[in-house]
Amino acid sequence: VSVGAREAWAFRFRVEVEACLRFQSLARRVEAFDADSPVVALLREAASDERRHVELCRALAIELGATALVEPTALQQIAPSRLSERDRVLYEIISACCVTETESVATLTTLLSHPMRPDVEQTVRAIARDEVRHARLGWAHLAREASQRSVAHAGVWLPAMLEGTFVEGGGEGARELGVLEPSARRIVFAAALRDAVLPGVEHFGIEVSAAREWLERFTGRTAP
Ligand SMILES: [Fe+2]
Ligand SMILES: [Fe+2]
Repeated sequence: VSVGAREAWAFRFRVEVEACLRFQSLARRVEAFDADSPVVALLREAASDERRHVELCRALAIELGATALVEPTALQQIAPSRLSERDRVLYEIISACCVTETESVATLTTLLSHPMRPDVEQTVRAIARDEVRHARLGWAHLAREASQRSVAHAGVWLPAMLEGTFVEGGGEGARELGVLEPSARRIVFAAALRDAVLPGVEHFGIEVSAAREWLERFTGRTAP
């Protein structure tokens, strides 16, 4: 079994744990300033979806030979601390849902267009179904915020946010085991930004020229 695939699923396992923790935290924090928001219940559902993903990824990583799977317990602070609490929430939801979940759907969809080992395909399909909803909940929160106040100022956050989202590296790909090769990951990420994420945020009055410049540098950068 490919070491790359084992490590990739062990990495996804940790990402899913973090997603679960982040959605639990965001549900409490949105509720604190907007108790009537339908997004609160969506965030709680998303947290329980991510719990299922944790177990799916754990099972597959172990099946591929992973042994030491340690669950992260603390959540990394991704939003700048100078922002207000409400803007930190907005930052985290744009990053976690509008960007990361959209990228995740694009990656899983690309994987599903090629033959995979049946157990891997089942896992990828189950996760992809939920991630589509998690991306939507981000857009729902952004729409609700944009209906209550201007969100234009979020544009300056985008380059650092995008830089923090894409994790370089990963060994060789193993598509039949659910892992894209690094060059394909970059192409899928860039296409998701260009075709879905940036037009989506721009729709809510967020300035995307800095993000577009970042994307141009990203696509021109050669993979390490
Ligand atoms: Fe997930
Ligand atoms: Fe998700």
